[in-house]
Amino acid sequence: MINDLEKVVSLCKRRGFIFPGSEIYGGLANTWDYGPLGVELKNNVRKMWWQKVVQERNDIVGLDSAILMHPKVWEASGHLAGFTDPLVDCLSCKKRFRADHLLEAKGLKPDFEPDNALTDIRCPECDGKLGSVRNFNLMFKTFIGPVEEQTSKVFLRPETAQGIFVNFKNVLESMRKRLPFGIAQTGKSFRNEITPGNFTFRTREFEQMEMEFFVKPGTDEEWFETWKNFMWEWFNNLGVKESSLRFYEHPKEKLSHYSKRTVDLEYNFPWGWGELWGCANRTDFDLKQHAKFSGQELDYRDPETNEVVVPYVIEPALGLDRAVLAFLVDAFEEVEARSGEEDGKHETELVLRLHKSLAPIKVAILPLSKKEPLANLAKEIQADLSKEFMTQYDETQSIGKRYRRQDEIGTPYCVTVDFDSLEDKKVTVRDRDTMAQERIDLAELKNYLKDKFNN
Ligand code: GAP
Repeated sequence: MINDLEKVVSLCKRRGFIFPGSEIYGGLANTWDYGPLGVELKNNVRKMWWQKVVQERNDIVGLDSAILMHPKVWEASGHLAGFTDPLVDCLSCKKRFRADHLLEAKGLKPDFEPDNALTDIRCPECDGKLGSVRNFNLMFKTFIGPVEEQTSKVFLRPETAQGIFVNFKNVLESMRKRLPFGIAQTGKSFRNEITPGNFTFRTREFEQMEMEFFVKPGTDEEWFETWKNFMWEWFNNLGVKESSLRFYEHPKEKLSHYSKRTVDLEYNFPWGWGELWGCANRTDFDLKQHAKFSGQELDYRDPETNEVVVPYVIEPALGLDRAVLAFLVDAFEEVEARSGEEDGKHETELVLRLHKSLAPIKVAILPLSKKEPLANLAKEIQADLSKEFMTQYDETQSIGKRYRRQDEIGTPYCVTVDFDSLEDKKVTVRDRDTMAQERIDLAELKNYLKDKFNN
């Protein structure tokens, strides 16, 4: 784990994980593009979430709902009226701040009335006078069709959850589900954040992985505990150190309008603890609101007792970009130059100790010579392995440098093809973490690697 975020940002740019958005035009502040390795890492994180939340369970199904939804959705959900942050401008330097954050930083309760000025607080940047507090809605607006008028106004969704609630009946009926059951989806959400920052931690366009678990009222508190523990175990099973994780219980007076209880799983990022995954008991708020605004019944009839209930909802909601950032920070390790492999030019090396299932490249194929017949054999090996794994072929520079390049991007195994390989039909497999090297029969190689990734 690293406590200097800049080193992670620099690795991400240098090695093709994450680039600044629109860079050739001078960038667009706080936008980020995932590069060739970043997209693999992000896909792997999403895949591991989907595997545990959907694939391995009989009681949860998937969904992929539209980003643009009927504007009434956001009236019903409370986002139109209440999804706001208190914004304050400095009258001198014109910088913008979250009013609640400024008060909290001074140890004061974030109590204020909109349109009032913050008394006794000056601009943290230039000590200038601050203007009055304005509530700012975080939803991005756009228009459907060519005419920009009130009736064609729509919003980019600020959470994926509402797409699940509006499809509750569709899924219930088409999949013949019984309580308790869940609906999961991943996808982009948009929030016009006042203070984005800390790399990909808070951005205006991000991806969420949310699951709404519908339960019988009265069983909600028990299910809350189950999903809260699930969140911890998921990160821990993917290698995140327990000492970097903690739970944060939201105080009652700070709960969102829909929540009876919220607990966040937090990660100790280089700048301090930050929310990764929120678990909320949303009660029957959303289904009741959508029933009221749409005029449709969104309840559940128990097929055995005939009892009709509006289910309660437990919602574990995770940010994919934040999860990727936490995995990168947690895996980042600077080690002393490793014996026998250094070329004597530097004292420290970087090893990205990503969990094998998350590593963007699973196997690197490294021929000791660029020339035939070795290159031919190495390419044949890559063609075969690439049917099973994400691979990379690297033939340039010394083998020590090539190992280091793979360590930096977290590749768990390197397969070295040497001159003996032509004779004995064996290759050397080198392990990223232990640096142990094993000579493996080519005929056994794929199964050997499959075993390694399954254990
Ligand atoms: N449906 C509930 C919901 O959206 P949230 O706590 O606002 O709850 C869930 O968001 C998760 O989405 C957060 O825990 C965080 O990981 C991620 N997230 C929220 N805002 C974000 C932002 N501006 N940038 C990146 N990730 C964000």
